[in-house]
Amino acid sequence: MKILVTGGCGFIGSNFIRLLLDSRDYEITNLDALTYAGNLESLSDLEDHPNYRFVKGRIEDRDLVAELMRQVDSVVNFAAESHVDRSIQDASSFITTNVMGTQVLLDAFRRAGCKGVFVHVSTDEVYGSLAPDEPAFKETDSLYPNSPYSASKASSDLLCRAAWKTFGLPVVITRCSNNYGPYQFPEKLIPLMIINGLEGRKLPVYGDGQNIRDWIFVLDHCRGCLAALEKGRKGAIYNFGGRCEKTNMEVIRSILEILGLSEEMIEFVKDRPGHDRRYAMDTSLAMRELDWRPEVSFERGIEDTVKWYVDNRYWWERIISGQYRNYYRVQYGKDLGVKP
Ligand code: NAD
Ligand code: TYD
Repeated sequence: MKILVTGGCGFIGSNFIRLLLDSRDYEITNLDALTYAGNLESLSDLEDHPNYRFVKGRIEDRDLVAELMRQVDSVVNFAAESHVDRSIQDASSFITTNVMGTQVLLDAFRRAGCKGVFVHVSTDEVYGSLAPDEPAFKETDSLYPNSPYSASKASSDLLCRAAWKTFGLPVVITRCSNNYGPYQFPEKLIPLMIINGLEGRKLPVYGDGQNIRDWIFVLDHCRGCLAALEKGRKGAIYNFGGRCEKTNMEVIRSILEILGLSEEMIEFVKDRPGHDRRYAMDTSLAMRELDWRPEVSFERGIEDTVKWYVDNRYWWERIISGQYRNYYRVQYGKDLGVKP
């Protein structure tokens, strides 16, 4: 099978490509724009793998996407603007990439007559926020996105559904809860707290720190995406989650404990506008139809993740210094040519 993975230089996409190259004989094309969140260094050890190639480009680039689509069977679409706080500052790139880019991919997949599956990777945030006593989100729940990020993801989900209904495109949508693990960009809660702890900086907690997320180790999510690709029912939506609800304060305390640091490093800061209170996923459909379940406990996952950031200072120090942006020029002899 020949697969187009979009956004493969990001956190989840890079972990997914690593999983594929380790466990399957598929030919992978990684299309990534190398925005600030894309880091070629996350896959530097796989550059010469015979089943892997990198193409720098945007998913909204119709000509490029049309050409690539003629060369593949299936698509796994990770490419997105993914950070809620950035979407609050400026939503425009979220609309361009998440909404328009997804439609370009769907059109090109159809026109190229791809024989495989279109897996669209989405998020629990499309469902909105849960009250403390409400049951976990189900795939049949209505969408109530609250941030520009989640609204753009919900829009892309609906475009995928429409492509399935109107054109019979073999689309499978996955919605996952908060991921953590190696190669996550240090703007997200867990890597930010680990790095701030290691650097002796304060740990900024939004609001009262009692917001709840359902944490899943990134490899469990990647295994879910692979199961969706190989076994997903066309037109289906599958929820993935870690069945692991924790308040932000609980997560931060675990990190401080592993690092042997004091809670005095915590600093409560102004809350995020429209901050969703709680997410939780009902994953029974994926468990039943895909024979999938999360395998990594939070205790093991967070230990491994903290250890990874301790052992891979080089990776994140080059992000913080901005040097990671030079890697493309060094490898390919061309300028990045995009705004960070
Ligand atoms: P990320 O921000 O780490 O990576 C996104 C990648 O997409 C980057 O490599 C970036 O360069 C690339 N990209 C951005 N715009 C592009 C464009 N126009 N064309 C081509 N490439 C582009 O994101 P992530 O955390 O790896 O998330 C991947 C996907 O999973 C996203 O669709 C996100 O909505 C979804 N998701 C993430 C989480 C999470 O906890 N991180 C949870 C559920 C779902
Ligand atoms: P984040 O990693 O941005 O993921 P999302 O908003 O998509 O769930 O944030 C996770 C939770 O952590 C969320 O409730 C916001 C909170 N948070 C902080 O308290 N401080 C921070 O510096 C960040 C980045 C997030």
